[in-house]
Amino acid sequence: MRLYRLTPSPELDGLRLCEEPVPQPGPREVLVKIHAASLNRRDVMIATGGFRHAIASGLIPASDAAGEIVALGEGVGRVALGERVCGAFYPTWLSGPAQQADGTHGLGGGSPGVLAEYRVFHEDAVVRFPAHLTYQQAATLPCAALTAWNALFGGPALRAGECVLILGTGGVSIFALQFAKAAGAETIVASSSDAKLARLAAIGPTHTINYRTAPKWDRAARDLTSGLGVDHVVDVVGGETLGRSILAAHFGGQVHMVGAQPFDGFDPRLILLRNVAVRGVMVGSRAMFEAMNRTIALHAIAPVISATVPFENAPDAYRLMDAADHFGKIVITVA
Ligand SMILES: NC(=O)c1ccc[n+]([C@@H]2O[C@H](COP(=O)([O-])OP(=O)(O)OC[C@H]3O[C@@H](n4cnc5c(N)ncnc54)[C@H](OP(=O)(O)O)[C@@H]3O)[C@@H](O)[C@H]2O)c1
Repeated sequence: MRLYRLTPSPELDGLRLCEEPVPQPGPREVLVKIHAASLNRRDVMIATGGFRHAIASGLIPASDAAGEIVALGEGVGRVALGERVCGAFYPTWLSGPAQQADGTHGLGGGSPGVLAEYRVFHEDAVVRFPAHLTYQQAATLPCAALTAWNALFGGPALRAGECVLILGTGGVSIFALQFAKAAGAETIVASSSDAKLARLAAIGPTHTINYRTAPKWDRAARDLTSGLGVDHVVDVVGGETLGRSILAAHFGGQVHMVGAQPFDGFDPRLILLRNVAVRGVMVGSRAMFEAMNRTIALHAIAPVISATVPFENAPDAYRLMDAADHFGKIVITVA
């Protein structure tokens, strides 16, 4: 089979296309023929050596894939041959609160990734995806969609009629918009680009803000909520942005911290002064993935795909992600 192996390099030229034997499933494992993968910002950080954890040399990169179960190891009972599944981002985090160790096993980081024609998963670490989705669409779910889901519903949950401010129009952000709309919330999206905000019209945010032309976007968000502030903010950036996210939230609101840019210049006293809850989000558990899939099926949500790149050109997909001009997700078709 063909697969990629990675040696991190600041020039983003460390992906090697290799040929290796198809792995065989052991007890309670399944062999998945991968049809599509997708990229997240984390994959570029890992490929350029900018990730916070050490990466094994020759790592199989990327966390997100969808495929079909084509062989079963001894004792598999949870899933069946022919089922269409995604791999779970954290293979050991099945339900309940995450344990610290779960966070060290993320696919394509602490554990081997999915940019391969076949991959073996433990039967507990795969999730069936909704029937209306193609493999390409399903490949966008394991990290970006689940992170958006966990932000909005994994803690104190968003309720119908509440207002959510979502930063950006990338992978996590567009899923957050789709889920917030499905939940009956008022939505505000802030982007650097009027063209991207115009494209969002098809999904229908209630309000939009260009954070370049309105650098005090926290104030703009408060103005849109009669001066009160929003109930939830999904902050995919971090750093100084977190301060503005807190100021955009109403007194006692929720700020979901998804991005982790360096926090120089951020004054933590804002958390107390605005009495907000800032919640760190770590992708999500398998149970959250299953709950999210029920919502995606019920509302026939279609993931937004910005570009689709063939497997043999996967490095081009990384360059597109690095360029950060995309809208939604970047997908790699595997077979
Ligand atoms: N904690 C977790 O578990 C977790 C999971 C997934 C992702 N993440 C993090 O979440 C972030 C988004 O990931 P992704 O895969 O969705 O990346 P992505 O597709 O590249 O999206 C990045 C988004 O950030 C927006 N953005 C950049 N600078 C901004 C700023 N100053 N203010 C507002 N928005 C800004 C961009 O919006 P416009 O182009 O519209 O301006 C773009 O939509 C990354 O930092 C990633 O590391 C964390």
